[in-house]
Amino acid sequence: MKTITRIWKVNGEEKTVKVPPMRRLLDVLREDLGLKGAKEGCGEGECGTCTVLINGAPMVSCLIPAGQVRDGTEIMTVEGLEKTEGGRLLQEVYADKGSAQCGFCIPGMILSSYALLSRNPNPDEAAIREAHAGNLCRCTGYQKIVEAVQAAARKWPGNK
Ligand code: FES
Ligand code: FES
Repeated sequence: MKTITRIWKVNGEEKTVKVPPMRRLLDVLREDLGLKGAKEGCGEGECGTCTVLINGAPMVSCLIPAGQVRDGTEIMTVEGLEKTEGGRLLQEVYADKGSAQCGFCIPGMILSSYALLSRNPNPDEAAIREAHAGNLCRCTGYQKIVEAVQAAARKWPGNK
C-alpha cells in the first residue's frame, strides 16, 4: 500500500509519520502515536469526541485523512493540555465544577474550551455554548461545562 511521510508538530514535539494518505488522523494519533485521549464516538463527524486542535482550531479527527494534514501543521490533543498554563487551568476548573460525568466527551470538549479561550478570553454565555455546539455530551446538560469555562476565563493567562 502506498504510504506518505508527514512531519507534524504534535503537542509541541516534532513527529514523523509514515502512513497511507487516506488513513484517518484519529487512527494515526491513537494507534501510531499512542495518543489515546482523542476518542472515537460516531466516527462520522457528528459527536465531537475525536476533536483535536489543528493550528489552534477544533476539528473532528475522524473525518480528516492524514494526507490532507500538511508538513509543519500544529496538532494539539488532550495530552498536550498539561503543557500549557491555560490547559492546566481548564483541567482544574472542569474538575472543581464537576463538569465531567462519564467523561467520554471531555477530551474533545475541553479542547474546544481551550480553543475558545485562546481566541476570546472573555466569551459571553452564548459564545461559550456556540463554541461547544459540535461536542455532544449526553450526561451533564452543559451548564457545568459553561460554568467551568466562565471560571477559567476569569483566571485565563493574560486576563488576570
Ligand atoms: S468520532 Fe469523530 S465526530 Fe464522532
Ligand atoms: S460527561 Fe458523559 S458524555 Fe459528557
